[in-house]
Amino acid sequence: MASLTVRGLSEDLKHQLRLRAAGNGRSVEEEIRNILKGAAAGGEGRADLPLQRRSTPTAGRPLPDRDPLDRASATAARVLLVIGGGIAAYKSLDLIRRLQDGNVTVRCILTKAAQEFVTPLAAGALAHGQVFTDLFDPKSEFDIGHIRLARETDLIVVAPATADLMAKMAGGHADDLASAVLLATDKPILIAPAMNPMMWSRRATQRNLARLIDDGVALVGPNAGEMAERGEAGIGRMAEPIEIASAAVSLLNNTAGKGLLAGKRIVVTSGPTHEPIDPVRYIANRSSGKQGHAIAAAAAAAGANVVLVSGPVNIPDPIGVMTVKVESARQMLEAVENAMPADCAVFAAAVADWRVAGASDEKIKKTKSGAPALSLVENPDVLATIAQRKSGRPQLVIGFAAETENLIPNAQDKLKRKACDWVVANDVSPEGGVMGGDINKVHLVTAVGVEAWPPQSKDKVARALVARIAAALAGEAQ
Ligand SMILES: Cc1cc2nc3c(=O)[nH]c(=O)nc-3n(C[C@H](O)[C@H](O)[C@H](O)COP(=O)(O)O)c2cc1C
Repeated sequence: MASLTVRGLSEDLKHQLRLRAAGNGRSVEEEIRNILKGAAAGGEGRADLPLQRRSTPTAGRPLPDRDPLDRASATAARVLLVIGGGIAAYKSLDLIRRLQDGNVTVRCILTKAAQEFVTPLAAGALAHGQVFTDLFDPKSEFDIGHIRLARETDLIVVAPATADLMAKMAGGHADDLASAVLLATDKPILIAPAMNPMMWSRRATQRNLARLIDDGVALVGPNAGEMAERGEAGIGRMAEPIEIASAAVSLLNNTAGKGLLAGKRIVVTSGPTHEPIDPVRYIANRSSGKQGHAIAAAAAAAGANVVLVSGPVNIPDPIGVMTVKVESARQMLEAVENAMPADCAVFAAAVADWRVAGASDEKIKKTKSGAPALSLVENPDVLATIAQRKSGRPQLVIGFAAETENLIPNAQDKLKRKACDWVVANDVSPEGGVMGGDINKVHLVTAVGVEAWPPQSKDKVARALVARIAAALAGEAQ
């Protein structure tokens, strides 16, 4: 369809449209198309109607109700997780959660042997009831059927992939639900083998592996390490759930190639910096990294190639993102410069403005002469350095302003002083609970004006910001 240009809208209506689009995780153009479609059909999308609940089409049991503004529930990628009968099957329960953390909905198939290790009840509790076990179960077969299971997914992950499952896949067997689905699918397959090192190194297994790789099956692991059996070590441990989830999300993004940010490179900074006083003491701040990490995760889920430069935090690395860990402001700037070029840079980290001049190489001793006098020097300004680059400046540079007073004037001043394109301003007064909390109330400050976004989870702020970034990079008016 031709691209859409709508003229003559009032500033207020444009503002409403942007908020609505951001809330739905769409670009403004997509939002307008949706409204027009709804209006033509006489229902959903009419501009005067509240946002409508959209649901992911599911066969069989419905998914539980979700927040209508939650883009993940509306457009989440789908993984069919095949759990094989190995001792590592217990880790696959954690894998379900990890995939869900990456905005993926999960259905499970348990082989007969897998049910000796984990129960369909446990997998079902985590996968919202979406568990299948039997090729010849009339209920499942009439409900959804193995062919639909094989097709109604974006990716099949086999974890643990037993030696037996690998052999069946390589040989094209279809004598149970797992193997029949794996043969009937036209979707990409990722296997996470797990077995005793002897089983792994056998020629038969290596032959099957070579055949599977030749057939286009993707592989994660196995890792080297201790086996469940006493005294056994070597290659054969299943990759950790976070590694498998990361590989799955990367595959989903690569194969989809259609996310809002597909083909774009985004650099995000997150967390505090630690500025050393001596080898054991440092100056820090209360940033948790939750907002920056959520932005990196949302950008990756939208198909971007994301580099996250993170100061010291106590939260997990986001799925599908390359995370570079740093401590000080100077290290953060270096890592950001190494990550360039990028289409967009989002500076959500709370970088220390100052560091201690001449930090001591030895632990400073307590002496009778009293507290040491620390003198401070200014740190490099990561945001301004990138925003004011003469060449290789990202198309869109976004700063964060954490303020305890005069929020908007300070943010507008920061926008001009640093020469960035947008500033996301948030009030971090202690009573607001933003620092370390899960809710954020931000204002988006641009050259055009100031938008007050409603209080919402940091994940939702991240998704809304990502939708705006996608629109800006696509050249839509801001
Ligand atoms: C205690 C126990 C642990 C096992 N662990 C593994 C394993 O880690 N990897 C593997 O390939 N097979 C393992 N097996 C053998 C598989 O369970 C067996 O080959 C089974 O037929 C696999 O079925 P499936 O591939 O349909 O899940 C184990 C068997 C037992 C009894």
